[in-house]
Amino acid sequence: MKEDVKRSIEAARAVTDFVPEIAIVLGSGLGSIADRIETVCEISYKDLPGFPVSTAPGHAGRFIMGYLEGVPVICMKGRIHYYEGWSPEQVVMPVRVMAGLGAQTLIVTNASGGIRADYRVGSIAMITDHIALFCENPLIGPNDDEEGVRFPDMTEAYDRELQDVLRSAAAEEGITLETGVYIYLTGPSFETPAEIRMCRTLGADLVGMSTVPEVIAARHIGMRVCGLSMVANMAAGIAPHKLTEQEVLEAGEQAGPVMVRLLTRAVRMMGQK
Ligand code: HPA
Repeated sequence: MKEDVKRSIEAARAVTDFVPEIAIVLGSGLGSIADRIETVCEISYKDLPGFPVSTAPGHAGRFIMGYLEGVPVICMKGRIHYYEGWSPEQVVMPVRVMAGLGAQTLIVTNASGGIRADYRVGSIAMITDHIALFCENPLIGPNDDEEGVRFPDMTEAYDRELQDVLRSAAAEEGITLETGVYIYLTGPSFETPAEIRMCRTLGADLVGMSTVPEVIAARHIGMRVCGLSMVANMAAGIAPHKLTEQEVLEAGEQAGPVMVRLLTRAVRMMGQK
């Protein structure tokens, strides 16, 4: 795996010498921010050695590098999910590559199910913490001491200062920003109502099938992390109807422009720091 990361970085470096500051992972239906990037270079995952290629609906598979509001960014258009059959280690390979290319900050976005009854479909929540206990940790295996410590701290997985930036960006854009704890479950089946009641009891506000492995890997290698989640549907048993993938993608299309405004403003503010 370490070899694949190295070879992928080299392959990208053979195409461009662009050095990103901020890495952005785009969740389901949130790809439109890529249109705002003044693109310097695009690299398809399939052109990188050993790189997992996403198969999920709504996920293209390429890195977009360029300037967002003048800030050098690398954007993952199409993320890799555990439920596609990739190992947790493969799921986090893109984060390692983006860090290897220079990114020191990671912004993760996703679409989630809303557990808290006061959320609405289309609400945008800043992720303040996560629950990862139900899935295999991507750091299991020998530790690479050059990358990070064996037992990385997760007390502030989501950086306080970056949370302040997201709050200010939302205020300046007039966007209501909820906050929430995100629980990561493997999927791909949606949860049962009983599972959602369990999640709520455990302290989760948002439920989803992504993000957490990337955050753990990013913290391990010392990246600063913040996360935004778009409530694509109310979670099972809270919604009065059955859940469909279509609903998730449609919500992404609706709330996508709001998320794009928030992210764009936040990146500009992070670039000024
Ligand atoms: N559950 C899990 N993952 C999700 C959901 C959900 O309800 N909505 C979007 N991603």
